[in-house]
Amino acid sequence: MSQQQSTLYVELGDRRYPIHIGENLLTSRGLLAGLIKSRQVVVITNETIAPLYLDIVLGQLPDSILVTPVIIPDGEQYKTWQTLGEIFDQVLVARHNRSTTFVALGGGVVGDITGFAAACYQRGVNFIQIPTTLLAQVDSSVGGKTAVNHSLGKNMIGAFYQPTAVVIDTGTLSTLGAREYAAGLAEVVKYGLIYDAEFHAWICANRSQLVARDGDTLRYAIQRSCEIKAEVVAADERESGLRAILNLGHTFGHAIETYMGYGSWLHGEAVAAGMVMAVRLSALRGSVDAELVVELEQLLVDLGLPVWAPTEMRSETFIDLMALDKKAIDGQMRFVLLGALGAALVVDDVTEAELVALID
Ligand code: NAD
Ligand code: GLY
Repeated sequence: MSQQQSTLYVELGDRRYPIHIGENLLTSRGLLAGLIKSRQVVVITNETIAPLYLDIVLGQLPDSILVTPVIIPDGEQYKTWQTLGEIFDQVLVARHNRSTTFVALGGGVVGDITGFAAACYQRGVNFIQIPTTLLAQVDSSVGGKTAVNHSLGKNMIGAFYQPTAVVIDTGTLSTLGAREYAAGLAEVVKYGLIYDAEFHAWICANRSQLVARDGDTLRYAIQRSCEIKAEVVAADERESGLRAILNLGHTFGHAIETYMGYGSWLHGEAVAAGMVMAVRLSALRGSVDAELVVELEQLLVDLGLPVWAPTEMRSETFIDLMALDKKAIDGQMRFVLLGALGAALVVDDVTEAELVALID
């Protein structure tokens, strides 16, 4: 690999897997073919990504193997049990067996549903993530959280199921819309806030290069984000402790997504607004300076992201929706807050009065 390309690993013992990062990796000679050990492959993508990248991926696979492309509709509202069933229909009709490999070619929606399909199909088949949104490259493709949504809550039906490899071709970001790109930057900002104050300072200093999608800046942002995610996942794969910090802003954010209807706010947009709420709550509790809230809001605005929930969402709406959040244990809501810049903590003692003060 050239110096423009790098590989890091998610260290999970015998399920250790590589994350390859670089420009034009989809056409990097032999890379994809080398990662696929089976004689059968299912490439799952959507109707937006298929015309852009499906042929490129198919062109990398040897003629001798059975390849079944499955093209699902585009959108969070299709991350459902019904779409999952339609995927299985096509894979079974094409007679894929337990040795097949599922490849997710797309953003977080395609990645999450493909991973869950791979976890279920014939009790589990190999799968590879080829994330094509920034959000999927820095977050959802790494770590093995897979799911579909339910009308009563996001990601409510799913499994922990790790890919065998992640291939991040940063070149695919050139076709990504501005809104989707900014949504990915929200997750990059998250890593600095929760884990690495130096990275946060770097993001602040490089905000205009990030917005401009400068190649080197982007590569470093993706690499550092994946390093942090890989480290956290290796320490706590099933979120019994540390991994919960990756959900900064998500308790509020998931409530926004559910309230607004899936697909109305992008996940990263909801996380951006949710992070401001979480950091403001941290400031109200005295663990970070109120100045950090102001700085964060400015950073997110500069990156093209929302900084607060829709005004019609009052505290009681949030409380109702957050009670169903997967992070709630025995009905007690859990929040990821900041103990300091670069150090998140999980708390379960936030009172309704604090939420009323924060939101209303
Ligand atoms: P997405 O998958 O809906 O993609 C956003 C849009 O960009 C879609 O319209 C898609 O078709 C399009 N697109 C994708 N790649 C493109 C490209 N290269 N060029 C042009 N268009 C492209 O949204 P997302 O933000 O990638 O992912 C959000 C999903 O990820 C949510 O369902 C969220 O719950 C999930 N998620 C999962 C995890 C996890 O750990 N599993 C973490 C974070 C988010
Ligand atoms: N995106 C949160 C996690 O992977 O745990």
